[in-house]
Amino acid sequence: MTEIIPSILVKTREEMVEKIIAVEPYVERVHLDIADGIFVPNITISGFEEVEDIETDLKIGVHLMVSKPENHIVRWLETQADKFIFHIEATERAQEVIDKVKEADKEVGIAINPSTPISAIEPFIDQIDLVHFMTVEPGFYGGEFLESVLPKIADFHFYYPDKPIEVDGGVDPETLPGLIKAGANLLVTGSYIFKSKDTAKAIEKMKSIAESESK
Ligand code: DX5
Ligand code: ZN
Repeated sequence: MTEIIPSILVKTREEMVEKIIAVEPYVERVHLDIADGIFVPNITISGFEEVEDIETDLKIGVHLMVSKPENHIVRWLETQADKFIFHIEATERAQEVIDKVKEADKEVGIAINPSTPISAIEPFIDQIDLVHFMTVEPGFYGGEFLESVLPKIADFHFYYPDKPIEVDGGVDPETLPGLIKAGANLLVTGSYIFKSKDTAKAIEKMKSIAESESK
């Protein structure tokens, strides 16, 4: 099963709510990007307060592009978000972050940057719900899709065929087939959807490509 997950990278709560409303009828969850200006050179909405009490039925996953996620995760776990992605490059305390998310009975994934090898997350793979492959350098909407990540995804899928693979960055109708062929099934997509004139059509198109490529 493949899933199209709209990515929301914004600076204000108003923009976030606007984007959630725009995709709400067509998907089951959104991916909310949190950038701290330290781990990545961009700053988004940063506060859990801004993410509290959002009136939506959508599930919310949080992509923490922040340094030392162990210092923030407990507070994030109190929000309505049910899935947390943190970067292996941002912490030396990955085990602690995983344990805290699992204690709260929520989902956890580790993100790896385009140049980070799979070996960096090997000790944790059995404990996490998914691996999140960055296919752009993290931090911004509309980054350049890095095709060089495809063999890394395919390799991982070969060794861990049952582990869900999420991809993030430059996912659009052109890059989707190659990603699915490599083994990705959770497809995060930002600018393609939100820059399209017709959000519903853009999501529908992605869904139908994903479905036909997965056969
Ligand atoms: C990149 C973010 C992505 C981004 C995706 O740093 O983590 O989630 O918003 O946007 P597009 O699809 O435009 O690359
Ligand atoms: Zn993201």
